[in-house]
Amino acid sequence: MTELDALVTAAAQRFAQAHTPADLENAKAVYLGKTGEITQQMKALATLAPDEKKSRGALINTAKQAIEAALNDRRQALADAALNAQLAAQALDVTLPGRQRGAGSLHPVALAWERIESIFGSMGFEVADGPEVENDWFNFTALNNPPNHPARSMQDTFYVDLNDTQGQPYCLRTHTSPMQIRHATAHAKRYAAEVAAGGTMPEVRVIAPGRTYRVDSDATHSPMFHQVEGLWLGDNVSFKDLKVTFLNFCRAFFEADDLRMRFRPSYFPFTEPSAEIDIQFQSGPLKGRWLEVAGSGQVHPTVVRNMGLDPERTIGFAFGCGIDRLAMLRYGVSDLRLFFDNDLRFLSQFPATGS
Ligand code: DAH
Repeated sequence: MTELDALVTAAAQRFAQAHTPADLENAKAVYLGKTGEITQQMKALATLAPDEKKSRGALINTAKQAIEAALNDRRQALADAALNAQLAAQALDVTLPGRQRGAGSLHPVALAWERIESIFGSMGFEVADGPEVENDWFNFTALNNPPNHPARSMQDTFYVDLNDTQGQPYCLRTHTSPMQIRHATAHAKRYAAEVAAGGTMPEVRVIAPGRTYRVDSDATHSPMFHQVEGLWLGDNVSFKDLKVTFLNFCRAFFEADDLRMRFRPSYFPFTEPSAEIDIQFQSGPLKGRWLEVAGSGQVHPTVVRNMGLDPERTIGFAFGCGIDRLAMLRYGVSDLRLFFDNDLRFLSQFPATGS
């Protein structure tokens, strides 16, 4: 082996021992750098005779090309190895199941709302819906709310900067009770026609769940909250019917057959007599405590008249109940604000379908 062949072999071995691009560049300098072996050989040509210079030069060039080829091979090998290592580190297992998108869940207030509709639906009540921006007549006057009633004050009510055709301001409804008037008047003509034709007054049996608004905010009050209104009118509907209906509703809603209920005398302008409804659980964390859940009463004759019906022929009861309150009791939630914070840690604890 010539001295140049030995140089090529040594270079190739040295390159093979370089395991990083930086090592390889250092190794390259030993042979091809400014003071490298090949460069020295080239410089030495100057001392040779012209004939010798030519043949020796050709040999050195061949050796140089061989070293460069070995260098490039090694460069490529290191680059391939680096790429393979990177691919292995980022390995993607295409056989893994895909990430599933959760089905989400229903809001606890929506769950309670659905439950209320389905239980009252099973007792023959229809469901009515109406506007949240309400006028003075439906929200107050038609419900026998005297003009100086505190519920009309700015402290309790969100007024909207807009008047109706009577010049009365619109407000965000403070309760679902205006739906009593809206629903009954919407059907009053039909009722009157049936009565005129010799029939009896058809029963009004309806609930109206929805959003309501008041200037109120703490752990148990939110400026926006939910109520469900109930109305049952006919020619012989009594307080007894209210008691049975509401008791059965509560027992079904809370899945508690031994739940007890009591009426407490109260005052509402749109009912006479009026009562608050309290319930009592016989087991569980709230056992034994009387909890107020609704206002109720026999619909006031003035209100029946404002529905376009004859109070001499039509009698019945109404109730208004907080949906948020029912949801808090059913799901054991102590702070109403949790319902409206939209914190997923809270909301995702509820099921996706009715419960
Ligand atoms: N509207 C009343 C309120 O928001 C609740 C209420 C009480 C509704 C008695 C009724 C009722 O229908 O008869 O406080």
